[in-house]
Amino acid sequence: MSIGILLGLVLVLPIVLTIVLDPRFSVEDATLTRFALATKPTSLSYNLSTVIRVHNPNYYFGIYYDQVQAHFLFEGQRFDWLTLSTFYQHRKKTYKYYPVIGGQSDITLGSTGLNNFMRENQTGLFNLEVRIDAYVRFKPHKNGFMINVVKE
Ligand SMILES: *[C@@H]1O[C@H](CO)[C@@H](O)[C@H](O)[C@H]1NC(C)=O
Ligand SMILES: *[C@@H]1O[C@H](CO)[C@@H](O)[C@H](O)[C@H]1NC(C)=O
Repeated sequence: MSIGILLGLVLVLPIVLTIVLDPRFSVEDATLTRFALATKPTSLSYNLSTVIRVHNPNYYFGIYYDQVQAHFLFEGQRFDWLTLSTFYQHRKKTYKYYPVIGGQSDITLGSTGLNNFMRENQTGLFNLEVRIDAYVRFKPHKNGFMINVVKE
């Protein structure tokens, strides 16, 4: 290795190691067994189970998930939410949440929202939104090595 490359590594590596990437949330699966609308007053009855994947993309940082909430929305209106469990995630690891919600919730839909419901209700394919709010802390990962050293 040339001295130039070595010097480059020495200069760049500490910078790379201190870049902190946010956790990545994605919905891996969703099953809707009930999604019905009643009018006057407008309310939704629903049963929904989801699989939410959480990935820590960092090579150097573990992540503490101190507070995690999942919010479920239809037409921008929240109809349910849950607190998810807190945990510590090691670097480069993936975790899955399996939130299940069911119940009835009052909801305010404008005429557009109502039309969208009717249209989606005919196809059976609903456009829902899951929003995750999370408070996280990053913990630097440290490597420790046990060594045997012979005293001279
Ligand atoms: C949605 O569709 C179901 C059956 O396809 C029907 O029974 C129900 O009345 C519809 N809901 C509304 C609000 O129109
Ligand atoms: C749907 O949700 C309701 C209310 O939480 C619950 O009582 C019912 O058992 C659920 N049904 C299914 C099929 O999960």
